[in-house]
Order: sequence, then C-alpha cells, then structure tokens
Amino acid sequence: MSTLPPVLTIDGPGGAGKGTVSRVVAARLGWHYLDSGAIYRALAVAALRRGLELDDVEGLVETAHDLPLSFQVEGTECRVLLGAEEIGAELQSEATGAAASRVAPYPAVRAALLDKQRQFRQLPGLVADGRDMGTVVFPDAPYKIYLTASAEIRARRRLIQLKEKGLDVNLPDLAKELEERDRRDSERAVAPLKPAEDALLLDSSDLSIEQVVERILACLRTA
Ligand code: DC
Repeated sequence: MSTLPPVLTIDGPGGAGKGTVSRVVAARLGWHYLDSGAIYRALAVAALRRGLELDDVEGLVETAHDLPLSFQVEGTECRVLLGAEEIGAELQSEATGAAASRVAPYPAVRAALLDKQRQFRQLPGLVADGRDMGTVVFPDAPYKIYLTASAEIRARRRLIQLKEKGLDVNLPDLAKELEERDRRDSERAVAPLKPAEDALLLDSSDLSIEQVVERILACLRTA
C-alpha cells in the first residue's frame, strides 16, 4: 500500500469541463489542485517571450528548467504568475493553447516538466487535471477519471468560457482549433491523450458541472 498522498487524476480533451470540475472537486475535498495544462501553456508563453521557435527543443528544455511559475489558489480561483506578472488572460487564449500543444510532444520537454508536476502531490491529497495524469505523471493514482464530451458541446463550452474572459472568439474557428489540438495531443508518440486502463470513463455531454462533481465524489466514496 502506497504511503504517498492520494491523487485523483482527471484527464481528457479540451473543453470537457476538466478545469472547472477539478477545481470544485479539489475545493470540496480540501485537496491541492494541479492544472498541468497551465504549466505547458506557461512554458509556451515563456518560450515565445524569449524569442524561441516552438520546435527548439534545447531552448524549450532550458526554459522549462528556469520557469518562474507559481499558482495562487483562493477557493476555486487560481491566479497564475510568471515571475511577478499575472498571465491568466494570455494563458487562456486558444493561441496559447495551440502553442502549448506544439511544445508538448517533445519527450525531453515533458521530462523537464515531470518533477514540477509531481511536487504538487502533497497531503491531504491532489486533484491533477491534464492529458497524461493517470497514464504517466501519477500512474499509481488510486482514483482516475477520463472526462469527455461530444466535440460540439466541448466547442460550445469553450466559447462561453473564453467569451466570459472577454476574449474575441467564434464557434467555427474554435471548433476547428479544438479538433486540431485534440488530434495533435492524441497522435503524439509520448504520453498521448488517452484514458488510463484503470480510469473510469465519464461523458459530461448531458451533465451539469454539479452532476459531474457529484459522480466523481461518489466514485471516491465507494472506491
Ligand atoms: O488543458 P489545456 O487546454 O490547458 O492544455 C493545453 C495543452 O497543453 C494541451 O493541448 C496539450 C498540453 N498538455 C499536455 O500535453 N499534457 C498535459 N498533462 C496537459 C496539457
């Protein structure tokens, strides 16, 4: 039996509701929260600011090792800082999501970010949100969920989310970008987007956030 703090992994494609669900579940349990996508996004932002090309693996690895990234969590809100600067809005844009998905396939880049992610595993427990949380980063996690939803619903949810943040987006472009990103994330050779063999599959297409949260908490209670 592992003596490490427990982890609940929530993986799945963009727009499935992972972020919101993970934050609410973490707040209810009083556990820590890891937004691993924000780490890949912050790396892409930092690399672009350094003037790097997104296929410059050596430069990306160096940037990953020096990344001055911190998270300030207050309830279900999370501020992301690069150095002293809050980069929340830039981090959330689809352009940054696409850039993150372009730096993510390189094994050396993923390896450089592994420890940063594992450091979040602290008592009383961790909710880890991403693509490879249950397969690669925390393969021994006792609780694993793979959260998905139909492509159309995911694009619509993302549209609402980005509009609320004041970003200028439209549904056809967003649907196309999400599809491209999912394809890139699923087809990469290392740590592709796929359910862990022992993950519980949950389709959130017809469920509210609250219903998804309740189902996940019920799984934890009965596990
Ligand atoms: O979850 P997100 O949309 O913030 O993630 C942005 C990109 O980062 C995603 O398209 C692929 C990459 N990513 C990854 O490769 N592995 C993770 N665990 C999380 C994100």
